[in-house]
Amino acid sequence: MFEPTPSRVYQRSGRAHELSSEERAIFASLDPSRLPQHVAVIMDGNGRWAGKRALKRFLGHQQGAESVQFVVETASRIDLPWLTLYAFSLENNLRRPKSEVSFLMKLLKNYLMSNVKRMNDNNIRMAYIGRTAELPEEVQDSMRWAEEQTAKNTGTTLTLALNYGSRSEIVDSARSLLRNMLAEADQRGISLQDMLAAEGTEDALRARIDEDQISANLYTAHMPDPDLVIRTSGEQRISNFLLWQIAYAEIFVTDRLWPDFRGPHLLEAIAAYQRRERRFGGLTDSGTDEVLDVLEPADQVAEEISGLTTKGSR
Ligand code: FPP
Repeated sequence: MFEPTPSRVYQRSGRAHELSSEERAIFASLDPSRLPQHVAVIMDGNGRWAGKRALKRFLGHQQGAESVQFVVETASRIDLPWLTLYAFSLENNLRRPKSEVSFLMKLLKNYLMSNVKRMNDNNIRMAYIGRTAELPEEVQDSMRWAEEQTAKNTGTTLTLALNYGSRSEIVDSARSLLRNMLAEADQRGISLQDMLAAEGTEDALRARIDEDQISANLYTAHMPDPDLVIRTSGEQRISNFLLWQIAYAEIFVTDRLWPDFRGPHLLEAIAAYQRRERRFGGLTDSGTDEVLDVLEPADQVAEEISGLTTKGSR
């Protein structure tokens, strides 16, 4: 397993002038103070893209790799700190024909070997999430190499989700929590049961296993949760991608197939995101206690409701 990428200070580059004229026009319509920090993409539709052109599925994947590079370069020009792409799921690994899996592995290796210079020119840092230790050795070597070659870059972090499944990630997090507790008990020379009992077992469990701890043991511990999830090719599914992390993310689905997705489409998705109102389970500004109490004080409403229930029960 790769070591989790350490968090770092992101440095803005101010390279928006390098956007294409089409991208610049969309970017100019965005509110720079409300850009997402983290965009995650479910890249879908490579096979359909190829099928529509009577081409082999492989060519769809190859064209999809081109989109990856265009999109991450646009992301770096608009100073997007985190871009995470679902490149190969655990399910892809288990359920796709061996020939397709082996093609995707070769494509990934070639992609990494041939794009590191462009990554460095654009100050992009490479990272990975997933059960990457199960990938072929030579693919892991190229992943490690690309990660090392780009480690000092301070712009966008491009994270590829490889052999990734969100449920397995949560399972891995739980295992790692338990492993850490066992190691601590071992270090103190007592059993896990005695260690927890000494703190009051229920209290100990509440303190040691909570949302922060689960998050801290996910592959994504070092990154902020995604603000925006984009899915291409029109399917309205999450497909076991970052289930924990996208609890409050906005979801943008486009019919465009991934091999046709480019920088302007990333910016359009961000524009749609900015038109949404994020509430994180709360209310908007127009729904704060002060505003609602001016409309009708809470005590008065409570009295009216209790009057109604009393009347109703007669
Ligand atoms: C879905 O297309 C996409 C994938 C299986 C993974 C994404 C892979 C790439 C974009 C190519 C390589 C990526 C890198 C980073 C080099 P699909 O085959 O499910 O399409 P379909 O639903 O139309 O059949």
